[in-house]
Amino acid sequence: MTGITHLHDLSDAIRRDFDGNKLSPKGLNKFLTNCKKSTSLVQINLEKAAQLVRSFKQIAVDQTSEEKRRFDVKKYLEEIHTSVHSVLKKNNIDVSIECPAGISIDSFPGAFSQIVTNLLMNSIAHAFQGIDDRSVSILVDIEDSVLQIIYSDNGTGIATENLTKIFDPFFTTNRDNGGSGLGLNIVFNLVTNTFKGDIRCVSESNKGCQFILTLQV
Ligand SMILES: Nc1ncnc2c1ncn2[C@@H]1O[C@H](COP(=O)(O)OP(=O)(O)OP(=O)(O)O)[C@@H](O)[C@H]1O
Ligand SMILES: [Mg+2]
Repeated sequence: MTGITHLHDLSDAIRRDFDGNKLSPKGLNKFLTNCKKSTSLVQINLEKAAQLVRSFKQIAVDQTSEEKRRFDVKKYLEEIHTSVHSVLKKNNIDVSIECPAGISIDSFPGAFSQIVTNLLMNSIAHAFQGIDDRSVSILVDIEDSVLQIIYSDNGTGIATENLTKIFDPFFTTNRDNGGSGLGLNIVFNLVTNTFKGDIRCVSESNKGCQFILTLQV
């Protein structure tokens, strides 16, 4: 928007100079240079916006359908990341994704994106109170049609006495702030039913937590 407003003001100024017979070659040259700068800025930002809309659209479609389709795991993870990028940025959380390029699977992208999104939302909601250096890492690998995902955050972790309950429906430590306790239960069901896989969590108080998932794909 700033780029467009700037361009608009520049065109007004050059029109005034032209109409008043005051337009010098130097003035025109400066105008053209500024035009180029502004349009490049606008172009970059439009591309970013378009990418964001594409991610939202694809993920929204996938989330409402149980559809099986072929997708590239690394690219899809990056799209999920893009779709929650602004909330991660607002919370100062750095996410790193390590996934080999070119893993293409014929599977359930909607369920896949719900799993990753729920884990990210949980890190945002529960992990980082009182922590400044906030990071999440997502490591992915595939062997013999089994996709392994290791999702870790370096947050406050989960108390040992809660570890056996986190996948239960309605277990939440966040009831007062509107937590329903369904997030990880949904993740558990998607992993075990849709992907015939398994999920476990390793965590200690103040040592972050790690979710280890295997999905049959
Ligand atoms: N990354 C995490 N760090 C610390 N605690 C976590 C993390 N993820 C989950 N938890 C704990 O597990 C509990 C259950 O998570 P779950 O996603 O099922 O429910 P919720 O996030 O509290 O509510 P909802 O997902 O419905 O908003 C949380 O209340 C929290 O105590
Ligand atoms: Mg949750």
